[in-house]
Amino acid sequence: MLNVFSLSVLSASLIAILAILTFIFLFKLRDLNESIKQNQGLKKNLDIFNFDIIQTLTKIIDAKDPYTGNHSVRVRQYSKLIAEKLKLPVVEIKKIEYAALMHDIGKIAVSETILRKDCDLSDEEMEIIKMHPIIGYNIAVSMTFFSDTAPLILYHHERYDGNGYPEKLSKNQIPIGARIICVADAYDAMVSDRPYRKSLPKENAILQLQKESGIQFDPIIVQAFAEILRLPNTLKDVS
Ligand SMILES: [Fe+2]
Repeated sequence: MLNVFSLSVLSASLIAILAILTFIFLFKLRDLNESIKQNQGLKKNLDIFNFDIIQTLTKIIDAKDPYTGNHSVRVRQYSKLIAEKLKLPVVEIKKIEYAALMHDIGKIAVSETILRKDCDLSDEEMEIIKMHPIIGYNIAVSMTFFSDTAPLILYHHERYDGNGYPEKLSKNQIPIGARIICVADAYDAMVSDRPYRKSLPKENAILQLQKESGIQFDPIIVQAFAEILRLPNTLKDVS
């Protein structure tokens, strides 16, 4: 039978063991926190690095056609504003932003002669241009961190009425991000000078979007974008 002295020694030993275990646990917890912080730092750096790669690729595309200037950057900015207005989840907004930046990345395989042509394209040239969403899809799907943007790139020339390309998808068959990029892309093309025509004023471009609402474009997206465009100062950061 244990006497009082033995019990005291046992209690003291248990307390000492518990104290040591607590110390080890806290020490490990600190290491774990440090490790998590380092991983978060690494992930942030990786995100910046990947974003830099995309921006560089995008600049190469935009440089192939001097008339488009910072077209991809503006399409990204417009797409982000629309996605926020539609209250899409943050993760989805990020995906749309990246896809918008890269939407024409497939044009890397299209000759500058065709891209810079200032008159009507032949049927054959048109078929070459129409390959760029598929080429873009194949590039994006091979990028580990951005493969989920690939379907948005593939479908950014689909039309709401099903008469677009490459797969003639319609309405909700087209991913929401691709429908957003399609509207942003068309608007930026209209308000920019092109070799074959001068830019449209902002209000005329909005009217054109509304004219094609439910035909070429998703009506909900056109309405959201028209509201954004008519708000004062919302486009002050668009370059
Ligand atoms: Fe395109």
